[in-house]
Amino acid sequence: MIKNKLLTSVIIASSLSLSAFAAEYTQGEIYQVMCQKCHGKFAEGNPKKKGPSLRNITQSELAVDIFELDGDGYQSSGSAHEKMEDNLIAIRKKGMDVDADKMAKYIFTSFGQK
Ligand code: HEC
Repeated sequence: MIKNKLLTSVIIASSLSLSAFAAEYTQGEIYQVMCQKCHGKFAEGNPKKKGPSLRNITQSELAVDIFELDGDGYQSSGSAHEKMEDNLIAIRKKGMDVDADKMAKYIFTSFGQK
């Protein structure tokens, strides 16, 4: 029994450290590297890349949008959407994990209208 408990806590501890390792980039760093080129340095939008401004969107709407854009076979209606989904997959492959809630908070608190 005691042995089992010990084993369980070792497994929990090692999976915790694994997820801590995966989160080595802040959402701000990820934004600069992966989102900025289409949405602008201050989320003001970039017409050249057809990326809309993200400044007038509430934090909760942003979170839902980012969550929905997050692949997983979610209904995609247009090519722009698909582009964004491809992009999120590419981001993942680089070891950067976009957390919808944290990213929404970052964009809203950094660039959103006060
Ligand atoms: C290749 C260019 C490109 C990149 C890179 C990109 N986006 Fe987008 N994004 C778009 C386009 C185009 C749209 C509008 C069409 C759509 O909804 O798919 C959009 C839409 C959005 C929306 C919805 C906006 C609205 O008005 O509802 C959010 C939120 C968003 N992007 C967040 C992000 C975040 C966060 C990142 C970085 C992880 C990112 N985008 C990276 C092109 C991009």
